[in-house]
Amino acid sequence: MAFDIDMIKKVYSQYDERVNAARQVVNKPLTLSEKILYTHLWDGNATEAYERGKSYVDFAPDRVAMQDATAQMALLQFMQAGRPKVAVPSTVHCDHLIQARDGAAEDLNRAKNESSEVFNFLSSVSNKYGIGFWKPGAGIIHQVVLENYAFPGGMMIGTDSHTVNAGGLGMVAIGVGGADACDVMAGLPWELKFPKLIGVKLTGKLSGWAAPKDVILKVAGILTVKGGTGAIVEYFGEGAESLSCTGKGTICNMGAEIGATTSTFGYDSSMERYLRATDRAEVADAANAIKEHLTADPEVYANPEQYFDQLIEINLSELEPSLNGPFTPDLYTPISRMREEAGKNGWPTKVEWGLIGSCTNSSYEDLSRAASIARQAVEKGLVTKAEFGINPGSEQVRFTADRDGLLKTFEDLNATIFTNACGPCIGMWDRAGAEKQEKNTIVHSFNRNFAKRADGNPNTFAFVTSPEMVAAIAISGDLGFNPLVDTLTNKDGEQIKLDPPTGDELPEKGFAVDDPGYQAPAEDGSKVEVDVDPNSDRLQLLEPFAAWEGTDLKGLKLLIKAKGKCTTDHISMAGPWLKYRGHLDNISNNMLIGAVNYFNEKTDNVKNQLTGEYGPVPATQRDYKAEGIGSIVVGDENYGEGSSREHAAMEPRHLGVRAVLVKSFARIHETNLKKQGMLGLTFDNKDDYDKIQEDDTIDIIGLTEFAPNKPLTLVLHHADGTSEEILANHTYNEQQIGWFKAGGALNIIRANQS
Ligand code: F3S
Repeated sequence: MAFDIDMIKKVYSQYDERVNAARQVVNKPLTLSEKILYTHLWDGNATEAYERGKSYVDFAPDRVAMQDATAQMALLQFMQAGRPKVAVPSTVHCDHLIQARDGAAEDLNRAKNESSEVFNFLSSVSNKYGIGFWKPGAGIIHQVVLENYAFPGGMMIGTDSHTVNAGGLGMVAIGVGGADACDVMAGLPWELKFPKLIGVKLTGKLSGWAAPKDVILKVAGILTVKGGTGAIVEYFGEGAESLSCTGKGTICNMGAEIGATTSTFGYDSSMERYLRATDRAEVADAANAIKEHLTADPEVYANPEQYFDQLIEINLSELEPSLNGPFTPDLYTPISRMREEAGKNGWPTKVEWGLIGSCTNSSYEDLSRAASIARQAVEKGLVTKAEFGINPGSEQVRFTADRDGLLKTFEDLNATIFTNACGPCIGMWDRAGAEKQEKNTIVHSFNRNFAKRADGNPNTFAFVTSPEMVAAIAISGDLGFNPLVDTLTNKDGEQIKLDPPTGDELPEKGFAVDDPGYQAPAEDGSKVEVDVDPNSDRLQLLEPFAAWEGTDLKGLKLLIKAKGKCTTDHISMAGPWLKYRGHLDNISNNMLIGAVNYFNEKTDNVKNQLTGEYGPVPATQRDYKAEGIGSIVVGDENYGEGSSREHAAMEPRHLGVRAVLVKSFARIHETNLKKQGMLGLTFDNKDDYDKIQEDDTIDIIGLTEFAPNKPLTLVLHHADGTSEEILANHTYNEQQIGWFKAGGALNIIRANQS
């Protein structure tokens, strides 16, 4: 479990020289984000200044983290790379495959039975290749990483979009697809477009009901789900220093919801306290020794408008508790306006469930603040109107919260304590009655609230808020309940006003844990066998994808023209499909089933151009594949937003889709398409989206001269015999064009290895 202090000291020993080299080439004071980026260049000291939002740069991340759903495909790919051991410290965390239903012990046992094949596979691959393995029940990846591995000034990648959570401990931590993780574990550089920088200056101090969650809910309201795209969000100011380390983690965590590459905070005393409390005094001492490098140069925060591409200022003293939603995490409503907004928009105000947990808000501090509300309810004779569920973030948090009576407080309010895992946050929730698809409202402390995400019911209106507000609103059972001014009636008929939450940043008696659930890898893994049953429906060894045929792509059938939001959940749904994450052919049966067909406004219902009939997207695509016909997917803005899962790119690749043409991409998904050898294109003129017709056959011209910054031409052949040309742009650089030609990046790694 040990954090790698030697690696951390090595990183820190390079800081002085590398920061100075960067300062010289950039020729101005550096932000924290720039310091971390420039000290992690693959080629060592900086020799040129990179252009933000333009330059592709090779980096050398310090760590890799993977969760069980994405690790399967990442490690199946790593096995194909032919390396004996991972090149950088890496960990696997079993947190996604545990369904919440009856309570922690029962649910964990059921998951271990149902997914034993996958857990055994991950355990044995980890053991073989030198990867730390966190067993089911050990906790949610990002909480466990924050508690054990994150360190100020470090760079990490993880196969989960909320890897960014580690920014709470001053890292540049970035969510990637499994193919990127595979590269880094194989000892290759990791490429990223040098991000733009958004500064968020926090003044004032949180008080009363306002929580760190309200900071990011506010930022999401300002920037929207696309506003952070291609940028690192750097928080600073006296307000930043007043926040706890896990509170900073919450804020960074939901940076994924604004599309940000990552978010981070400068090293400060809250981080030092957290490092020492989590048994990492050595890391704190090492960080203290290079403290001046673990934050921006003083001139930057003094005149931020000169150093950031965009600047936002938020006064924490004025921040109001709020709820974002429904169906999108950027729809910001302060609690004082919620009743009115809900009425205006027809949002059901009766709250059925309050859920506390997820990697966003499952720290000890989160539980203690929510418990302070629950305790008042019990003591003041209130009965909770909604049901209550709690997922602690890690076994260490759970054990400590149990010791300190926090879990008992929730149980006194009839809460169900679920496993230390993602659970409802990723649709792993067997919610009684969800199949009736009734219109209803839930509140949770998670980060995402897309339709169907928590319980599969498209009519569940989910609102994201802080854990303490989840507690208050669940107790009241009323979405419009404003604990700052409203009262509740207790069982004696008295009017009760809840006091603002109180809590402990860190447990007074220190953290404790009996068995954290960690398995260290074998010293020599060469003899460890990794078995994959060829008849398994959960795991399937990968076959290399075919290389590009060397010609333009002609006669592609339009598979679907997706309308509106098309997230990775729409492209490769989670929930029940999670169990096929290690079996490419089986999981491909969920390809694009959540996307709305522009032509009939239905999901999973597209026209099969070979038969003229309407049918499910995967089956239609399999028909094209059987006939050796390629196809194209068309999409709207920010296509592929959401998670880093490369299945959303591998499934279309596996089933024979050749290109995805959209108005704009979410960054991770675009890279994932490139890694898998797909063509990811954007309309040169966004209005050309309207020219795509249901029966179109499309040619992609210009691939024999495929080059960076050179648009491709698409010829649309319409059913009425007419055709027209449109231009499509791309962001492929030379290396990425190489991936396309080879049929995927992995084909190149394997060729180089042999
Ligand atoms: Fe898990 Fe939800 Fe976080 S799925 S990793 S708790 S966003």
